[in-house]
Amino acid sequence: MNIVTTIIKSRHSVRKFKPGEIDGQVIRDALECAAQAPTAMNIQPWLFGVVKEKDTLQKIADLTDHGKFIAECAVCFAVFGEKKETYYLEDCCAATENLILALQAHGVSSCWVAGEKKAYGEKIRQMLAVPDMYTLVSLVAAGSPADITITKKKEMKHIVFYEGFKAE
Ligand SMILES: Cc1cc2nc3c(=O)[nH]c(=O)nc-3n(C[C@H](O)[C@H](O)[C@H](O)COP(=O)(O)O)c2cc1C
Repeated sequence: MNIVTTIIKSRHSVRKFKPGEIDGQVIRDALECAAQAPTAMNIQPWLFGVVKEKDTLQKIADLTDHGKFIAECAVCFAVFGEKKETYYLEDCCAATENLILALQAHGVSSCWVAGEKKAYGEKIRQMLAVPDMYTLVSLVAAGSPADITITKKKEMKHIVFYEGFKAE
């Protein structure tokens, strides 16, 4: 067993959080891990918002369709991408996953909430006063887990092929 792969496999989306704050050092470390993600041509086309104020969390939650639980999280990260960069979506998704895994490594649970492709992304951008050159890629609601649901994953034999694909 390996510590990093064990952390990756122990991650589950959590949508119910215990009250309480997340340590500032943990937040900073998770953000540094997000910013460590690979990016096409090392452009790093991102901007990370950190929201802890209750009123703002509530407003973000209200704007989303499937992110109402954001109102109850300790901290919500908002990952924005520079629209003009060809690979901003891939880059910001890599950063989002790094962020989630770093939080998990610190014992902080989270859930990715859609931003890209959602009309509310523009409203959240405006609410947070983020310049128009950016677009919301993802939201990550985080906190201490109050309830963990374990989802079923597809079996390796159905999703992996070696060398050339062969139909069963
Ligand atoms: C791009 C993306 C968008 C997602 N959007 C939402 C969302 O809006 N609301 C939500 O509750 N979960 C959202 N999720 C979390 C997925 O529902 C979750 O990852 C999936 O059900 C698998 O569960 P697991 O994360 O516990 O493995 C999103 C995940 C991704 C990658």
